[in-house]
Amino acid sequence: MQKLLAIESSCDETSAAVVAEDRSVLSNVVASQFELHEDFGGVVPEIASRAHVRRIIPVIEQALQQANCELKDLSAIAVTSEPGLVGSLLVGLTAAKTLALSLNIPLVTVNHIDAHIYACGMGQQSTVFPCVGFVVSGGHTNLYDCRSPTDCRLVAGTTDDAAGEAFDKVARILHLPYPGGPSIQKAAESGNPTAFDLPRPMMRSDKPNFSFSGLKTAVLYAARGVPGPNQLQSTPPEIVPDLAASFQQAVIDVLLFKSHGMLKKLGYRRLCVGGGVAANGPFRKGLVDMCKRHGYELLIAAPELCTDNAAMAAIAWEYLEQGMTATLDADVLPGLVRPNISRKRGKGK
Ligand code: KG4
Ligand code: ZN
Repeated sequence: MQKLLAIESSCDETSAAVVAEDRSVLSNVVASQFELHEDFGGVVPEIASRAHVRRIIPVIEQALQQANCELKDLSAIAVTSEPGLVGSLLVGLTAAKTLALSLNIPLVTVNHIDAHIYACGMGQQSTVFPCVGFVVSGGHTNLYDCRSPTDCRLVAGTTDDAAGEAFDKVARILHLPYPGGPSIQKAAESGNPTAFDLPRPMMRSDKPNFSFSGLKTAVLYAARGVPGPNQLQSTPPEIVPDLAASFQQAVIDVLLFKSHGMLKKLGYRRLCVGGGVAANGPFRKGLVDMCKRHGYELLIAAPELCTDNAAMAAIAWEYLEQGMTATLDADVLPGLVRPNISRKRGKGK
């Protein structure tokens, strides 16, 4: 059975995985950098890239060791080359190019968002495509018209903050630890989701896009009062569970409403949801209920495949099977393609 080594370093996780041709994950090592960024309440790009430089080789070595695999056993190197933080992406791509060149094996560049969608089908005997792909992470809240592993089209995105970013910023307002998503979910367990009447941004708009910055401001005002001499400097601890639960519910309501709207618009019967926020328990439950009610097939990535990891670069096998390899002058593409522009991959890249 052929094996590839996958490398992921698009944001603040340094990750390497060995994935066999049948898509089985033989190892998936993830070195998170939470402790390096928590004082800042978000990822600091320069700190992230420096940490990737220090960690990439040990992480690759560990992934090979856990898979009981040596460099000579590899058939290809896959790496995330877009989108993400430019410095972070460059570390992974440089390591991948070096390995591909020295081992004389193909290099495959992977789009991180496509990989998040592909992760929904991993470990399940289900086909992912065609589907509405929904990537809800720290950097993206995007809906895709996914026709095949090599043809996913962006059809809606956020006009300001991504959902995960809103979780992280609201956690800061509520004095909860970084990353905000898991800590808000935990605090919300003992809270009442209807205690605060928070907005559901863009729910009444006929546009498919998202917006979360107004909701974040609404949480700030609910926590500390409107700006002025009476605004509190910190959030009273007794309101944190209710406010966390109300915020979480507002985000979930919008995510469910918009993904349902896109399923109706595109006419697909399958929804695939990935990205860090898809690890959120109440959101997963809401998706299951919504899809059951309307008869949609739902694939959500396993929690460990929701947050950034290299195993989801298993999508590289799809490209390899179609002869879509990259050359050694491949570059990183930090930005996201514009809505409605297909990033269909051509052969002989
Ligand atoms: O996909 P990911 O690991 O990185 C990006 O590509 O952005 O997503 C990270 C984001 C963070 O904003 C984090 O707060 C959020 O996912 N997240 C969650 C949960 N776990 C991680 N948000 C809500 N609930 C969770 N349980
Ligand atoms: Zn991600």
